[in-house]
Amino acid sequence: MSNKVEESSITIDSGIVECYYHFSVERIKAHYPNERLIFITDENVYKSHAEIFPVGDTIIFPAGEENKNLETVGRVIDELHEIDAGRNDRIIGVGGGVVTDLSGFVASIYLRGLKFSFAPTSVLAMVDAAIGGKNGVDSGQIKNQIGVIRQPDALFFDFTLLRSLPSEEWVSGFGEIIKHACIKDAEMFHYLENHRLEDLGNNPGAFARLVQKNVNIKLNVVAQDELETNARRILNFGHTLAHAIETLNKLPHGLAVSVGIVFACKVSERLTGFDPKKTEKIVDLLQQYHLPVSAGFDKEAAWNLVSFDKKKSGDSIYFVVLEDIGKGVIKKISLENLKDLFFEI
Ligand SMILES: NC(=O)c1ccc[n+]([C@@H]2O[C@H](COP(=O)([O-])OP(=O)(O)OC[C@H]3O[C@@H](n4cnc5c(N)ncnc54)[C@H](O)[C@@H]3O)[C@@H](O)[C@H]2O)c1
Ligand SMILES: [Zn+2]
Repeated sequence: MSNKVEESSITIDSGIVECYYHFSVERIKAHYPNERLIFITDENVYKSHAEIFPVGDTIIFPAGEENKNLETVGRVIDELHEIDAGRNDRIIGVGGGVVTDLSGFVASIYLRGLKFSFAPTSVLAMVDAAIGGKNGVDSGQIKNQIGVIRQPDALFFDFTLLRSLPSEEWVSGFGEIIKHACIKDAEMFHYLENHRLEDLGNNPGAFARLVQKNVNIKLNVVAQDELETNARRILNFGHTLAHAIETLNKLPHGLAVSVGIVFACKVSERLTGFDPKKTEKIVDLLQQYHLPVSAGFDKEAAWNLVSFDKKKSGDSIYFVVLEDIGKGVIKKISLENLKDLFFEI
């Protein structure tokens, strides 16, 4: 994997996807001069940034996880058909993780697949959702039950769009940043301990470097195991419980991940002897970034969702635990064992 950094255009070519940092959405058209571009976004992003979208070739769907489903996919596909989108056209998904997951899925199935690229507009999509090629939608209560793995050609990071991002969504993005620090990067964990969300949000240079670091962490993992047969599972740290409470409590994704991280730390204490003082350090860091570390939820209902998790394999589940801060490991544990821990912790 080459990690070529070009200072002039501020581009990083990871070998999986081209990343363009400090690249405004308006410049994307010039980047693909010979292609028809069709933009897909949600109502919130459109309302805040209508001027960046071309008149005509923009498809807008209602925002929110509750719309990340096949019904919305069907509506977007109808609109693509109405505007006569063809095999050689390119989809540009501009939005948070809901938009990138859904537009990447639509681009993968419409006419058996169009080219696509993303401009992530939430912190969470910049550091996580837009990266790695997992595109899909929820079905009933099961998150991301339907989907494909197909990489976008490019990611365009326009940090100016974050000015309209609600503060709760900034917090949510830090749930995934802290996840990356916990599993892969003790140095970044320490850096985060020494900063505050408010300072990073007001320092575009420092924030862009932080995003870039997170993009590289994720791309490095994905490059080893694009189809999630093994190493990629590490990115699911905190997500077993998170997906259940995200659905049950209607929590933003990163907030649910935060609660899931605390649960996974406690499971780590039992399974790897992870130092409880380090769990406390993680809890402190999550709170420093205004993330929740517990949530009231219906345990039976949550367990039903956990035991239906896609990470399940027969009677076992792949569960990510920490050996140390910055060192996550994948463990295969029996559902029975996890169930005991789940109702005990
Ligand atoms: N594919 C993956 O690998 C992956 C990884 C992590 C998360 N995800 C998925 O990503 C989704 C969560 O992503 P998210 O947190 O970005 O949620 P989201 O897309 O729902 O965005 C959060 C909210 O912020 C709004 N928004 C986004 N950008 C904005 C901007 N610049 N200005 C104003 N409003 C803006 C959205 O309209 C929405 O209301 C979940 O569905 C999750 O499953 C996918
Ligand atoms: Zn996540």
